[in-house]
Amino acid sequence: MSVHILGIAGSPRPNGNTDRLLIHALETLQNEGYSTELIKIRELDYSPCLGCNACTKTGKCIQKDDIEYLQERLLAADRVIVAAPIFFMGINGQMKSVIDRMQPFWAWKYVLKKPLFPEGPKKSRNGIFLSAGGTNFPDLFDCAERSVKNLYHVLDIKFMGTCGYKKIDKAGEINEHPTAFTEVEEKVLALAKL
Ligand SMILES: Cc1cc2nc3c(=O)[nH]c(=O)nc-3n(C[C@H](O)[C@H](O)[C@H](O)COP(=O)(O)O)c2cc1C
Repeated sequence: MSVHILGIAGSPRPNGNTDRLLIHALETLQNEGYSTELIKIRELDYSPCLGCNACTKTGKCIQKDDIEYLQERLLAADRVIVAAPIFFMGINGQMKSVIDRMQPFWAWKYVLKKPLFPEGPKKSRNGIFLSAGGTNFPDLFDCAERSVKNLYHVLDIKFMGTCGYKKIDKAGEINEHPTAFTEVEEKVLALAKL
């Protein structure tokens, strides 16, 4: 099978709830023979976007750090799974900083009017969002989902939905959830088969 799935772990907490969901997702896919890759942003050396707008002239960022590697992997992937917790009702800051650093792709497409894939669009790029938050506010995942949707839109990735889990706070609490892991399994297998 040639479908390659990239998982991005956005939480600063190792082995936390969103890490567990993502690792389960990737193991499920590996067991079905898919090629997978995991990037933990807490292990990357990167700085936030400077807002200098240099990328609107060149399509490239002036900062040379691990974001270049992540950008390359995001272009190579057929499927993307972003897993990140809710902090202050939005996506956690570390993940948001990474998303902001994708501004060169936005500049490339919408300012410089160049295609993301000069050799022609990839057949099918799809992505989902996995998340957890400590409260059960009705709109808990709305703001974070919006950032992920926007990231995917800029990267020519079709957004295929969120598996978000409320009232999940302590590290590992997701393990007690009655349906989360089964739902994630079903979601990622459907994602891979698209
Ligand atoms: C700085 C910070 C801010 C948080 N803000 C919220 C919040 O606004 N709403 C919420 O429901 N949970 C909030 N939480 C709880 C986390 O979303 C929750 O613990 C989640 O399970 C963490 O996932 P992780 O283990 O993958 O990091 C916050 C946690 C931290 C550390």
